[in-house]
Amino acid sequence: MSAGVDPPEPLPGARLLFSLDPATAHLNHGSFGAPPITVQRTQHRIRDEMESNPDRFFTQGLPERLAHTRRHLAAFLGTPADGAALVDNVTTATAIVLQSLGLSTGDEILLTDHGYGAVTMSVDRACRRTGATRRVVRIPIEADADEVLETIRAALRPGRTRLLVVDQVTSPTARLFPVASIAAAASDAGVPVMVDAAHVPGMLPVTVGDIGADFWVGNLHKWAFAPRGTALLAVADRWRERIEPLGVSWEQESGYPQRVQWQGTRDYTPWLAAPAGLFALRSLGIDRVRTHNAALAHYGQRVIGAALGVPPEELPVPDGRLPEAASLAMRLIPLPDGIAGGVEQAQALRLRIAEQLAAEVSVNWWSGRTWLRICAQVYNRAEEYDRIAGQLPGLLDRAAS
Ligand SMILES: Cc1ncc(COP(=O)(O)O)c(C=O)c1O
Repeated sequence: MSAGVDPPEPLPGARLLFSLDPATAHLNHGSFGAPPITVQRTQHRIRDEMESNPDRFFTQGLPERLAHTRRHLAAFLGTPADGAALVDNVTTATAIVLQSLGLSTGDEILLTDHGYGAVTMSVDRACRRTGATRRVVRIPIEADADEVLETIRAALRPGRTRLLVVDQVTSPTARLFPVASIAAAASDAGVPVMVDAAHVPGMLPVTVGDIGADFWVGNLHKWAFAPRGTALLAVADRWRERIEPLGVSWEQESGYPQRVQWQGTRDYTPWLAAPAGLFALRSLGIDRVRTHNAALAHYGQRVIGAALGVPPEELPVPDGRLPEAASLAMRLIPLPDGIAGGVEQAQALRLRIAEQLAAEVSVNWWSGRTWLRICAQVYNRAEEYDRIAGQLPGLLDRAAS
């Protein structure tokens, strides 16, 4: 296929590390991740250990094992271990942060229109319960890092905005936001910031401590190859005492992070197996993985964009001035006007692509338009994007008629 760019060399053997069905093109790693087989086995072994003697598993050494895991994951992300709590996912962490803020009438939570739907819904619930209000700032798809920063800075209302929620990598639009500069601007205005970094662990090089956010949360079950249900919430020192878990446990009096992390008889095996994901990533070579994935996502965007007649300059790309732009492994392609008229039709189109093209992608209705989001991971090949590029125009023609 002619996309004007060459795909990267595949990482030899990487495909075989996964249990993914080879008959399907899995171009949506960003949604649910895919743990390598070694990680699945590690979790199975820990589960076997748990089921062989539950009393011993839960009462002998589990808090120490969890603390060790937390230290390991926190070090990988560049954040102090005593400010980090293991949680299930970004959805849970968002609810924890929102309920710990002490919101009341007159308060406002500021979001961007690139935010994740369930996070926005969580904010809405917090507003209903407390009398606070939600305000959404619009950021054009083509905004560069400076424009993103200035738009958000202008929207802050010191004294009134009690939380700014901003994504490090956005879900519906695959944008990279300059979160460190945004956090600095918010701090100048006295506005606390929560960074939704759902896609960051593993995908981008990051030192969370340098971002300066009040709250930062990232999923390890997407790009860091952890079993599903593994995320890290990092909380700045000044907030830790105020953080309340969603449910009280025996560790309530132990303070943060234990009181958040310990949730009775839950399944702790995803967290304990998460370091095996980092091991898999490091064995492949983190830099090699990142370079490969970003280059392949770029290739996929160009080849599918070309097949749909989208000029390269209309394909959103990350602002190259941000060093992390070289690692962004998700890309967006605008679909023709009229192909879907809302969220439900976008979902229907995604299913149609899955069924008719044997390809998993994300299709989103955002800002009055339908967008295809593709990802690249070490198990993907250029031929998969070539195949979709060859077949998608026909499917869209049929969908439109
Ligand atoms: C930006 C963003 N935030 C939050 C989430 C929610 O993550 P989880 O379902 O693991 O809670 C996602 C999931 O894709 C996301 O992309």
